[in-house]
Amino acid sequence: MRLRLRNVFLVYFVVSLVGLFCALRELGRPCPCPPPEPERRRGRSVGVSGGEGLPPIYVVTPTYARPVQKAELVRLSQTLLHVPALHWVVVEDAAAPSALVGGVLAASGVSFTHLSAETPPELRGGPGAPSWLFPRGAEQRNRALRWLRDTRRPDEPGVVYFADDDNTYSLRLFEEMRSTRGVSVWPVGLVGGLRLERPLVAGGRVVGFHTGWRPERPFPLDMAGFAVGLRLLLAHPRARFDPRAERGFLESSFLGGLVTPGQLEPRADNCTQVGVWGVLGAFGGLWGLVNPGQLEPRADNCTQVLVWHTRTEKPKLRQEEQLQRQGRGSDPDIEV
Ligand SMILES: *[C@@H]1O[C@H](CO)[C@@H](O)[C@H](O)[C@H]1NC(C)=O
Ligand SMILES: *[C@@H]1O[C@H](CO)[C@@H](O)[C@H](O)[C@H]1NC(C)=O
Repeated sequence: MRLRLRNVFLVYFVVSLVGLFCALRELGRPCPCPPPEPERRRGRSVGVSGGEGLPPIYVVTPTYARPVQKAELVRLSQTLLHVPALHWVVVEDAAAPSALVGGVLAASGVSFTHLSAETPPELRGGPGAPSWLFPRGAEQRNRALRWLRDTRRPDEPGVVYFADDDNTYSLRLFEEMRSTRGVSVWPVGLVGGLRLERPLVAGGRVVGFHTGWRPERPFPLDMAGFAVGLRLLLAHPRARFDPRAERGFLESSFLGGLVTPGQLEPRADNCTQVGVWGVLGAFGGLWGLVNPGQLEPRADNCTQVLVWHTRTEKPKLRQEEQLQRQGRGSDPDIEV
């Protein structure tokens, strides 16, 4: 009897020791409690008020009615939904904002402003005219500029980016542009007949551009390849997109009103100074005079492609037209 008791005690002792050992081992480890709220959720708090303390990004999207319009806007909205402190300014090429675009915006969960500006007929080109005869989206982007000038105070922080509805955007792009003070630049993939176009950077400065077409353009940049500081924009009330700009010169027509192309001397090492000029600019509109030609390279000195000039294939609707001629087309009451 005594012997058995001793055995029981021994077993108890060993089990306790093992238990204590295991407990001690667990001490240094992170507790297996539920993981904290994922980062992504914070990205959901959209709107200018979301992302406390961050300068808001104003994403300007010109759009026009076509079969893929809703699909493009839904896709873009679901990218923008992940970006904190973002306000989406959507401008339709139409006499008035449409119910379709309004519906997409209202359902998107993104903070938005819905505007319209119709391209005048003389700048539209006839139905047979090639699409590149006049630059697309100039009126609409100018309408967004007017909205920014009408509603923002000159000293408000912010970044303005022109995002067409058919490109593909990495979420990282928005964080890269967030710190824009003057004009920030980065590569664009699948554009201009090349795998990528990009500003060439040496020693942290833009020293040229890799482009296959009209490299003599003042700013050989795609619309998706730059962002502009809101204060810089507001300090230049006349800067706008020229709807009669030659093909490929629309970006230059706008950027030329903000910075001096001859002085492509972005000073990454002098970025600290830009903040001072920014304050000066806010008071005196002096920015462009004092510190022109700021191109701030982003995306690891313009070595990362974070936006792609993808184009959605135009859908073939021949069967639809055939059925419509027979009065049996798809239900026109169902929005596509
Ligand atoms: C960009 O290049 C400059 C100069 O070579 C370097 O100091 C800097 O760290 C680079 N920045 C990034 C993000 O790679
Ligand atoms: C930065 O500013 C200083 C003067 O404040 C100037 O001497 C220097 O050349 C500047 N650096 C660059 C890269 O522009």
